[in-house]
Amino acid sequence: MLKGKHIILGISGGIAAYKSAALLRLFVKAGAEVQVVMTPNAKQFITPVTMSALSGKPVVSEFFTANTGEWHSHVDLGLWADAMVIAPATASTIAKMANGVADNMLITTYLSAKSPVFVAPAMDLDMMRHPSTVRNISMLRSYGNHIIEPAEGELASHLVGKGRMEEPENIVKALDDFFRASKSLAGKKILVTAGPTYEKIDPVRFIGNYSSGKMGYAIADHAAARGAEVTLVSGPVAIVPENPAVKVVSVESAREMLEACGKYFPSSDIAIMTAAVADYAPAETYDHKIKREKDGLDQISLVKNPDIIASLGEHKRDGQILIGFALETDDEFNNAVDKLHRKNLDIIVLNSLRNPGAGFRTDTNQVSICFRDGSRKDYPLKSKSEVADDILDVIESKYAANN
Ligand code: C5P
Repeated sequence: MLKGKHIILGISGGIAAYKSAALLRLFVKAGAEVQVVMTPNAKQFITPVTMSALSGKPVVSEFFTANTGEWHSHVDLGLWADAMVIAPATASTIAKMANGVADNMLITTYLSAKSPVFVAPAMDLDMMRHPSTVRNISMLRSYGNHIIEPAEGELASHLVGKGRMEEPENIVKALDDFFRASKSLAGKKILVTAGPTYEKIDPVRFIGNYSSGKMGYAIADHAAARGAEVTLVSGPVAIVPENPAVKVVSVESAREMLEACGKYFPSSDIAIMTAAVADYAPAETYDHKIKREKDGLDQISLVKNPDIIASLGEHKRDGQILIGFALETDDEFNNAVDKLHRKNLDIIVLNSLRNPGAGFRTDTNQVSICFRDGSRKDYPLKSKSEVADDILDVIESKYAANN
């Protein structure tokens, strides 16, 4: 569940910080990307060198890097994270979190984090049971933070009682369980089309287009990460899904794509059609390579390809959600909404052609999501991965409203 997740590991200054190295190692082994943030005191217990070597990223501790004057943005970090884990969380750090005392990078990051926060307290038993700590921890709970209760046992002070930071394996398990439970698309079947289609002229030539498939593959990966059962009907591309749970059905031509979609659409809850389907195919396909010297070939006759999404739109049953993509050059919104109605879609995602970072072969995209009632949501230029999440968020709320 932690594969590809962005985790901020906040470390405060307690002896249990030595266990944070093992915790970091486990997160990295589970496929997470980890940014370590340390309080100034934490560095007395474990070195930033150890943590940066294990995470593969420089540790953030100060607001500025002294020699370069570089400012570390706690806001960006807070937005980047899928989860923030503070382990160990000392009495002082817990008190600052509870009261918003933003005097170090860890607390400012905590206050900016939009993600779920997990807190693994570690302290001596008397500190642990002091009314102020008890109150501060209950305040964190009231903010929605997840407290990973410390275990009982021998403490660094040799006293025996509650206050030992939970073992790294159990902290990893707490996050894993959380993400498993937050699978918002669990039980949903999603059909995604992606990439170009190749329309064969002869055994070595085809009519195709520049679509890379990146947008559709990002949607398939993210939908699978949200627990959906994803079938990706893909034209010829040079990429593979990152998420091994995505089932790929490889096709070449529009007719093959139509056939595959016809097979998977009836059992799908949601279909997202990002493929750049060729509009025309050669009327005739040659069995042998057309010879250059042959002077008879001055034209190739073309026939119209099937409109895959329109045919799915015709057969759409109640409750199914069908999403198309559009790329328009003029009167883009009206044309997109017109297409939405004509093809019986629920949502159409308009790719902006006004931004050079959007569209074919780029890693970024700028979209507007248009609805049947004529309303729309405009988004700024983002990575295709972020756009995939935006689209899935909209689909989820639409699906919940429809069903
Ligand atoms: O009509 P237009 O090609 O602009 O429509 C774009 C949308 O229709 C996209 O979602 C695309 O995947 C889908 N489409 C299709 N079959 C076609 C042409 C487009 O499914 N033959």
